[in-house]
This record gives sequence, C-alpha cells and structure tokens, in this order.
Amino acid sequence: NGLLALVILYSSRSRQKNEPPLDKGFIPWLGHALEFGKDAAKFLTRMKQKHGDIFTVRVCGGYITVLLDPNSYDTLLDDKVSLDFSRYAQVLMQRIFSLRLPNHNPDTERAWMEQHFQGPSLARLSSTMHLHLQTQLRDEERSCSPADWRQNGLFSLCYSLLFRAGYLTLFGAENSNDVTALATVYKEFRTFDGLLAKLARSTLKQEEKRAAGLSQERLWELLSPAWLSRGKGSESRSWQQSYLSHLQTEGVDTEMQRRAMLLQLWATQGNAGPAAFWLLSFLLTHPEAMRAVRKEIRGLRLQEDGALQRHPLDTLEHHSTPVFDSVLSETLRLTAAALITREVVQDKTLRLASGQAYHLRQGDRVCIFPFLSPQMDPQIHHNPQTFQYDRFLNADGTEKKKFYKGGERLKYYTMPWGAGDNMCVGRHFAVSGIKQFVFMVLSRLDLELCDPTAIVPPVNPSRYGFGMLQPDGDLEVRYRLKTLH
Ligand code: HEM
Repeated sequence: NGLLALVILYSSRSRQKNEPPLDKGFIPWLGHALEFGKDAAKFLTRMKQKHGDIFTVRVCGGYITVLLDPNSYDTLLDDKVSLDFSRYAQVLMQRIFSLRLPNHNPDTERAWMEQHFQGPSLARLSSTMHLHLQTQLRDEERSCSPADWRQNGLFSLCYSLLFRAGYLTLFGAENSNDVTALATVYKEFRTFDGLLAKLARSTLKQEEKRAAGLSQERLWELLSPAWLSRGKGSESRSWQQSYLSHLQTEGVDTEMQRRAMLLQLWATQGNAGPAAFWLLSFLLTHPEAMRAVRKEIRGLRLQEDGALQRHPLDTLEHHSTPVFDSVLSETLRLTAAALITREVVQDKTLRLASGQAYHLRQGDRVCIFPFLSPQMDPQIHHNPQTFQYDRFLNADGTEKKKFYKGGERLKYYTMPWGAGDNMCVGRHFAVSGIKQFVFMVLSRLDLELCDPTAIVPPVNPSRYGFGMLQPDGDLEVRYRLKTLH
C-alpha cells in the first residue's frame, strides 16, 4: 500500500510556475528510465528539441532536471550549498563497487588525489608510464617482425596495452613481471567494465548479476597482494600503496579498502585505452589528419639533435605538439560523455545566462551532459558529427580557444574532463599517457586498416554518461614492426 501511495504521489506531480518543463513519460514510476538507459544522447536530444535547454524528466520514481546551456553551467557547478555532489556519488559507489565509505570526506580525498597527480609526482608517474608502455609494446613487437603482419582489433590492442602499462604504473608491485597475473587482471577488468553500465542502472539480469559479483570478488582478490596486510617500507611505495595508507588514515576498514581498489582501478584505467582507440581510429580513417600528425612527429625528431635516434621521442612531453593536441581535443569532443550530476539538497532557484530563472525542488537531481552541449552542439561546432582534426587549431597553428554560441564567447566549448571541483584529477597523466602511446605506435609500427574502406565503428549507446564511450564492435587493423633505416 505504501508503495502504491508513493507511486500515486510521484505520478501526480505537476509543473509549478517557474519550474522547468516537466516530462513524465507514459510509464508509471519508471517514466523515461528505459529510453534514458538505452541511449541517453538520443533521448536527451529528443527532449531538448521538445523543451529547449532545460527540462525535468521522471526516471524511476525520481525527477531529474537536465540543463543543456553551457553558458549557464557555472550557476550549477558553483553552488555547493543547495547542490550536493557526494550523495549520488555514494549511491553509485555502493551500486557499482559494493563500496560504502561512511566517513568519506570528498575534500580530503580530492586533495590527496591532486597531490599525487601533479608536480613532481606527475612527472615521476609519467616517466614510469613511459617505461611500461615501452616494455608492453616491445612484448607486442616480439611477436611481430618486419616481414609479417599481425592482425587485431584496434580497441583490444589499445585498451589492453594502455591498461597494462597504466596498471603497472599505479598498482605495480614486486610481481610486476608476472605476465599471466597482468593478463588475468585485464581480462577480469574487461568483464566487469562490460557490466558496469547495467550495474549502475540496476538492470542486470539474474545471470549477469552473478557474473558481476564473481568478477568483483576476483578483482578484489587480484588487487590485494600480500603486502596489503603486511604493510611495507615507504621507499618504494606504489601509488596504490600510498592510497591505501591514505584510506587507513581516514579510518576505512580493511574490507572497504580492498573494495576501494576496484573503484580506483576503474577511475584510473577505464578511460585512456578507449580514448587512444578513438584517436587512432580517426587518424586511420582520415588520411589528411594522419599526414599532419606524422609531419609533426617528423619535426620533433629533427629537433632532437637533428638526427634520428633509436628512441627519439623520450622527451616528448617537453615538446609542443599543437596538431596532436587538436586531434586529441577533437577526439574527446566526439567521444567523452560523462553525465555530471548533483542532488538538490534544498530548494533552489537556478538563474540561467538568458536571464530566466527556474525553481528546483529539494530531493530532485540536476544534471549537465556536456556531450550534447557544448560538444555536439551545432550552434557551437560546425558539423559536430564530423571529425575535423584542426578544429582546435588557429590558422597560425596555435591552439584555438575562441568559440561562440549566439554571439557569446564560451568558457566551456568542450568538457571531456568535467568541470569545477570534480574535474578529472588525472587529466594531465591521461594526456601524457595517450600521447606517449600514440607516438610510440606511430613511430615503431606500420599500422593500417585491414579493410581500407572500413569506417570508425558506431558507439555503444548504453555507455553515454559513463566517461569515455566505447565502440560497438571493433576496427580490424594489421601492423608490423617498422624497418628502421
Ligand atoms: C574523474 C574524465 C582519465 C583519474 C573524472 C571525471 C571525468 C573524467 C569527466 C569527473 C567525473 C564526475 O564528475 O563525476 C576522464 C577522461 C579520461 C580520464 C575523459 C581519459 C581520456 C583518467 C586517468 C586517471 C583519472 C588516466 C588517473 C590515472 C580520475 C579520478 C577522478 C576522475 C581519480 C575522480 C576525481 C574526484 O573524485 O574528484 N575523469 N578521465 N582519469 N578521473 Fe578521469
């Protein structure tokens, strides 16, 4: 009865004066949940066409207001009194990672992360990453020769290489050379990653639920090496070990420490591989872009003492690479699709750049989805569906930062890393890893499409809202060791 009363209560909500347009959908309680989960980009585009830049939809008994005007994002991101980030984050943590951190303090966590992903720590991590990428690629090369082509899916190739190198960099410990263990962690991670969107939406079928649970257990086990209980001297601590000490200081119990490792594995390894995949896919299918990037690499090589060296790109991060940077920004514009969510903890009036004000109700959630706007907004980016490698370049070759909507210059013209206090803390590390990887692949391997007429595979639409998108299917490539002259 209680449930029924609740259903009726929720169903009977109607739009009040000064509230955003309300769209409850036809299905009681669920509202738009199915359409939202199936393809959030398509659904929200439809709502935007129907209602404009702000609207409220019903999803699983709750109400979500979606704001799609980038000139108004700061009003939402800056409000830390009426809007709360961590409550919904905690819900997801519990749902996806079975993780409960009751005394969780997002500010100390954030401060810890920032300290470990910038300055000297960042430089150390990036150079460790470089070494591991070289080793991983060399292992891949060992099974290659200049005479024989190897064939593989590009997504598999990028994800596995970047995952392995990233994992060794942050989680690597004594047994770093254990190739089998590394392969097991990667395989298990992909299983878990494949179920993640459904976990978040609680839409797993019985069998999938079991698979997800098993995968979680295995990963918790794999991520808790022997030193976890022993503790270890501080000289050669990995990032993971430092993070564990941090959790201990915060009073997190051992079981939750174990579980937190999987959350961190996903946050740190789930995005770079897919990003590198999209970037190389776009280069392989856009010869003009590939030529421009190769030209830039050749230029860097010449700068290095004017001669070809064996590993000429070791100091890559210190070079400016505007063409590559534009290619990366353009790739992320097309394929980074996080949903930024806040919970309304007290009634609030949201004042938009247009001057209009809307009332938000306590208990609702409010989201921005930068993928739709600014990233795919035709008023901001001409032909937004098209990959245009020099979209973020000025005519003089410098980075283009001026973009407009309705004559108004935009602060947010692309937002792959999110914004405000929850902006990706690992972004510099991510960029340096992707850059190292792409430059290594292009300098050491001959890489080409198996089918020269192949196109970039479509996006798996269930992943909108979870960071980097992933392809439905893969792009078959072949590669062989470059003959060095
Ligand atoms: C958070 C994007 C790679 C570490 C985020 C957020 C976004 C994002 C949008 C904010 C999520 C939110 O607001 O809920 C990306 C993209 C990446 C990438 C597009 C690659 C192309 C990485 C890497 C690392 C990393 C390589 C670390 C090694 C983190 C962490 C957070 C985060 C720890 C949580 C920050 C917090 O709690 O405040 N990332 N990320 N990310 N990212 Fe990344």
